[in-house]
Amino acid sequence: MGRIRILSDQVANQIAAGEVVDRPASVVKEMLENALDAGATHIRLEVEGGGRKLIKISDNGCGMVRDDALLAFERHATSKIRSSDDLLSIATLGFRGEALPSIASISRLQIETRTSEEKTGTHIEIVGGKIARVDDAAIPPGTTIAVRDLFFNTPARRKFLKAESTELSHVTALVTHYALAHPGKHFELHSASHALLIAPPVGKPVERLHQIFGSELVNQLLPFAAERSLEHAGLPEPPPWKRDANYERPAPGFLRLSGFLSKPELQKLNRNSIYVFVNQRLVRDRLILHAVSEAYRNIMPPTSFPVILMFLEMPPEEVDVNVHPAKTEVRFRQSSFIHDFVRDSLRNALIQARPAAGFLQALTASPNAASAISSALLPDISPLPGDPVPATPEALASDAAPFQLSPPEPEPITGKLPFSAAGLEVIASTMPQAAHECDSQTPVDEDQLPPANLNALASLKPLGQMRESFILAINDEGLWIIDQHVAHERVLFEKILRERQVERVQRQRLLMPMLVDLLPQQMVVFAAIARELERNGFDAEPFGPRTIAIKAAPIGLEGNQLERMLVEVLEQSERESQRENLETMRTRIAASIACHAAIKVNTPLDPTRMEWLLGELAKTEHPTSCPHGRPIALRYAWKDIQRAFQRI
Ligand SMILES: Nc1ncnc2c1ncn2[C@@H]1O[C@H](COP(=O)(O)OP(=O)(O)O)[C@@H](O)[C@H]1O
Ligand SMILES: [Mg+2]
Repeated sequence: MGRIRILSDQVANQIAAGEVVDRPASVVKEMLENALDAGATHIRLEVEGGGRKLIKISDNGCGMVRDDALLAFERHATSKIRSSDDLLSIATLGFRGEALPSIASISRLQIETRTSEEKTGTHIEIVGGKIARVDDAAIPPGTTIAVRDLFFNTPARRKFLKAESTELSHVTALVTHYALAHPGKHFELHSASHALLIAPPVGKPVERLHQIFGSELVNQLLPFAAERSLEHAGLPEPPPWKRDANYERPAPGFLRLSGFLSKPELQKLNRNSIYVFVNQRLVRDRLILHAVSEAYRNIMPPTSFPVILMFLEMPPEEVDVNVHPAKTEVRFRQSSFIHDFVRDSLRNALIQARPAAGFLQALTASPNAASAISSALLPDISPLPGDPVPATPEALASDAAPFQLSPPEPEPITGKLPFSAAGLEVIASTMPQAAHECDSQTPVDEDQLPPANLNALASLKPLGQMRESFILAINDEGLWIIDQHVAHERVLFEKILRERQVERVQRQRLLMPMLVDLLPQQMVVFAAIARELERNGFDAEPFGPRTIAIKAAPIGLEGNQLERMLVEVLEQSERESQRENLETMRTRIAASIACHAAIKVNTPLDPTRMEWLLGELAKTEHPTSCPHGRPIALRYAWKDIQRAFQRI
C-alpha cells in the first residue's frame, strides 16, 4: 500500500514556492534529507566532476513500493504531510514534494528502490523528466538514486556552475554538516576514487567531531548544554467559540541547546565553521548568527569568527520551515526569546571557561536583542549551506562595543612635542587597518600607491632599534621610523612574485615531512590550489584522507608559521573562490607567505641586518606600504625638525 499522496492545490499553494536545484550541492542536500527522512542509518555518496557528471546516493532506509516510486516524481507528491495543518508543525526534513520531480527534469536519473516487505525492487530511468524505463530490480532494501549530467537540457543554467573544485567543496561541506548532525549514522563520500569522508556510527557527538575535525581542533572546543522552558506555546490558540468542551491550553515546550564552541583564542576568518542545526536541520539563520556574535562581543574582534557546532531542539510548531524553498531559512515563532537563550547559554559556557575579572565586566550590558536584529546592520546570509557568507566586518564592527583584548588605539600626537602631528609624515597612501601581525585582507591594488622615493630610502643609515620592532634611521631628508616586519614583508612579497614568474622560488626541504590535518572541504580547496602552492616553493601532497604532508616550503617559513600560513591561505581561498581570478589568488598566496616568513616585531637586529633590510627595501618597487596596505615608514622631515627647534 503506497504512502505517497499528491497534495491538494489548496495545500500546495501554501508552500514556499521556488526552484531549489541550482547546483550539485542542492541536489545532494535534497537527496540526503530524503534518505534521513526514510530512516536510513547507512548513507553512501559518490560524485564525479564535482557532482556535475554524477551524484549517486545509496541508503538503507524504508524504500518505496513501485507505485510510490513512480508517484514520487510527480509535483507535490509527498508522504510527509497531508493537510495545511501539518504545515504548522513539520517534523521531517522534507515536506514540499518537489525535489525529485525538479531533479529528474534536468538530468538523467536512475532510481532503484525496495521496501523490506517486498521480494523484488523497482528500477526506473527518467531522462529530462520523461520516464524511459521501468523494471524489476534484485536489490537489498533501501534506495539508490544516480543523477547524471545535471542541467544537460538547460545549457543556460549549466553555464552558471562554478569550477569542479568549487562545486565539490560545497558538496563536501554539506555532507560534513549532515554527518555532524547525525553521529549515530554511517556517512561516506567518495569523489572519483578518493574517499573524502568516511564516518562510521559513533555513540556521542564528540566522537563524530573527532572523526571529522581531528583531535587537535576538538581539544580546543568546550562542550555546552542548556535547557529553558518557553513561557507560552508558539502557535496562537483557537478562538473560544472554536474550542470544544475538553479543550486544553497547549503546554509551553522546552528549548534545548547543546554543542561545542571555541575559546576566543581560536579565530577563523569566515563563518564557515559555525554550524547551526535546528531540530537536526542545517540552517543559516541571521538571528542565531547574531546571538553568536553577541556572545563573543568584546572578546573576539568583530572580523573574526569562532568554531561552533550547535544543536537547538524545540517542539516542531515553534519553528516555521516553510519560509524558503531550500528550507535553510527558518522563522522562530518566539524569536527574541530564542535569540537571548542562545546568546546567554554561549556566554555562560565562555565565562565558565575563563572567569577573568575584565572579561566578566566586558560581557555585561548588551542592547535589546529584537531591536538589534531588525536593524539593517546584519550581514547578508546566503541561503545555501556551504555558500561562503559574504563577510561585512564594517557592519559588525559598527555594531560592537570597543574590543577589549586588542591593543589600544594609538593616542593622537598633540601638544608641543617636537613630533607634532603635522611633522610626522606617513609614507604611504593607506593607513593601518588592524593591529594584527598579518591581516587577512586581500592585498591592495599596487597601482593605487604613490610613486616611490627610491633615492631617499637608498641613502638611509640605521641608528638603532626602538623596542626591537622599529628601525630608526636618518638621511638628508630627515629622521625615519621603519616598521621592520612590514618592511621585510614587502621585500619578500616582491621577491616571491618575481621568482615565481621564472619558477625559481627558493625552497627548503624539511628534515621530516610536516603533517597538517585539514577539514574535508579544505582538502578539496588544497587540491584546487596545489599547483599554485608548488610554484611558490611548496612540495606537499595528500597523506591519508584528511592530512597533507609538507616536504618542502619556501625559505624562511618554519614550524608553526608554516602551518598557520597554509591554513590561512586555504581559509581565504574557500571564502574567495567565487570571485577572484588567478592573478589575485597568486598575489594573495605570495602576501601570506611573505607575512609569515618576515622578521617579526620584538626581534633584535644587529646593524648589519638593519642596513641589509633598508637596502633591500630601497630596491623594491613599492617600498612605502606592505602588501596589505599598511605603511612601512614614517618620516620626520629635516625642515620640520629645524622649525620645531625654532632654527628657521
Ligand atoms: N531515499 C528515499 N527513500 C524512501 N522514500 C523516498 C526517498 N526519497 C524520496 N522518497 C519518497 O519520495 C517522496 C518525494 O520526495 P521529494 O520530492 O524529495 O519530496 P519531499 O521530501 O518533500 O516529500 C517523499 O515524500 C518520500 O516518500
Ligand atoms: Mg525531499
